[in-house]
Amino acid sequence: MTDTPATPIVARTRAELARALSAQAGSRALVMTMGALHEGHLSLVRRARELADHVVVSIFVNPAQFAPGEDYDAYPRTLDADLAALRTVGAEVVFAPQPGEVYPVPASFTLDPGPIARVLEGATRPTHLAGVALIVTKVINLVRPDVALFGQKDAQQLAMVRLLVRDLDLPVRIEGVPIARDTDGVARSSRNQYLSADERVRARALSRALREGTRVADEGGAASAVAATARRVLAAEPDVGVDYVALADADTFEVRGEGDDAAAAGRPAYLLVAARVGATRLIDNTIVTPGGDPR
Ligand code: PAF
Repeated sequence: MTDTPATPIVARTRAELARALSAQAGSRALVMTMGALHEGHLSLVRRARELADHVVVSIFVNPAQFAPGEDYDAYPRTLDADLAALRTVGAEVVFAPQPGEVYPVPASFTLDPGPIARVLEGATRPTHLAGVALIVTKVINLVRPDVALFGQKDAQQLAMVRLLVRDLDLPVRIEGVPIARDTDGVARSSRNQYLSADERVRARALSRALREGTRVADEGGAASAVAATARRVLAAEPDVGVDYVALADADTFEVRGEGDDAAAAGRPAYLLVAARVGATRLIDNTIVTPGGDPR
């Protein structure tokens, strides 16, 4: 798709969405978001435009993926700014429903993504990935895209979506898009706007931990040494509360334990970090290939 970006059609109901989609011929890409769009989202849309004739973006803060006490109510809702940003990158249709349109009756049906939903993000947010699985399935069914794009920043979510599509035979191709970073190394996230200026500086510790971990892997360090290095970097930063530092196999998302150095050696793995900076919980990751040196 190469034409000049135009103002997107905003569909707020299923019927409006169906009408907008029926006017499209050719292939379709879907970018799902919760709004508060930043450069990371826009890079997904730009990639979507390369992959398909038409691009649909959904903007929906999905209540099903927030547990009581999480930031569902406080989550930034910036539809006007989002539409202005989307205009610059050429999404043609924006599906921006209210919760009552997406969940017209209380959902009695739930999806259990299995073991992947119980580790790392799932250990801290036990209902989160099930809620993501539900909304991803619903929006894919409503939009019927040829390809759906998800950011690699939410690596566990991306791995779960790949499993969902495989296990439920959803007729869509999933494409992962690399993490967008600010010049200070911090991964772009809608939650970065919760950070004070001081916290923003502290937040750099996450990407620094990943860089140090990568250096150790590149020098032949084993998985345990890579994780220990990243953990040390985070621990050295005041007021950064580490939730987890972990390695997970890049293909299977199997989490590598303390004794797994031999199995992990030579295999690409996600090095994943999650930490609280002030009251804001941030995640980040990169791909490393650990060696065999336990150090
Ligand atoms: O990554 C997100 O923003 C959300 O989890 C998603 C995929 C839009 C589902 O609500």
